[in-house]
Amino acid sequence: MEVGEKIGSGNFRDCFAVEGEPGLCVKRLKQDLGFFQRLQVAFLRPGMNTEELAIYTSLPAGLKPYFNPVLSATREYLVTARPLDYDGSHSRPVCDYGKVANDGFWEEVERIVHLLDEHRIWFFDTFLIGTNILVQRESEARWKPVIVDYKHLGWKAFPLQLNLLLRSEKRKKFFRCYCRFEARFRG
Ligand SMILES: Nc1ncnc2c1ncn2[C@@H]1O[C@H](COP(=O)(O)OP(=O)(O)O)[C@@H](O)[C@H]1O
Ligand SMILES: [Mg+2]
Repeated sequence: MEVGEKIGSGNFRDCFAVEGEPGLCVKRLKQDLGFFQRLQVAFLRPGMNTEELAIYTSLPAGLKPYFNPVLSATREYLVTARPLDYDGSHSRPVCDYGKVANDGFWEEVERIVHLLDEHRIWFFDTFLIGTNILVQRESEARWKPVIVDYKHLGWKAFPLQLNLLLRSEKRKKFFRCYCRFEARFRG
């Protein structure tokens, strides 16, 4: 497998195309992580990639179609699908659109939020700046959200007591993040 051009970059990882495989991409830890990010990776998230694979595997069935599948993961690399639109072009993140003007898309986002809440998965990364959700255009009119970064889902780092204490706060924060996301990107 030959790694191609860089297609995205987050706080921790770079994402690269795969030569000859338009429907795949590879993520790798950034080489130039800052001191605190390095500490975070070392102590809290040493298995960031393998953790993401485990999360995908154990997602509730209703949520799975909205999460981009992870194909394989090691400590260094993660091989994952790269969503394609109906015309064969690569799906782009919400932030590239500025505003996403498609009611079906937002209905599905609302379904995701409802399901996450039902399963008490209150994570914040997804609804942050529009880079972790892609708009997959299944036809001219039918657009669907695909979450491509969900490494923080689950909050395994929290001990149980603390977790219970923080539960209502987390839920509140989750919805605050989502409301901000919707206000910013709903067209
Ligand atoms: N499966 C994918 N298909 C297309 N682009 C992706 C995919 N996964 C990630 N990206 C892009 O690469 C960026 C970095 O990947 P991400 O997993 O968010 O890294 P980090 O863990 O550092 O946040 C994302 O913000 C997104 O724009
Ligand atoms: Mg990200």
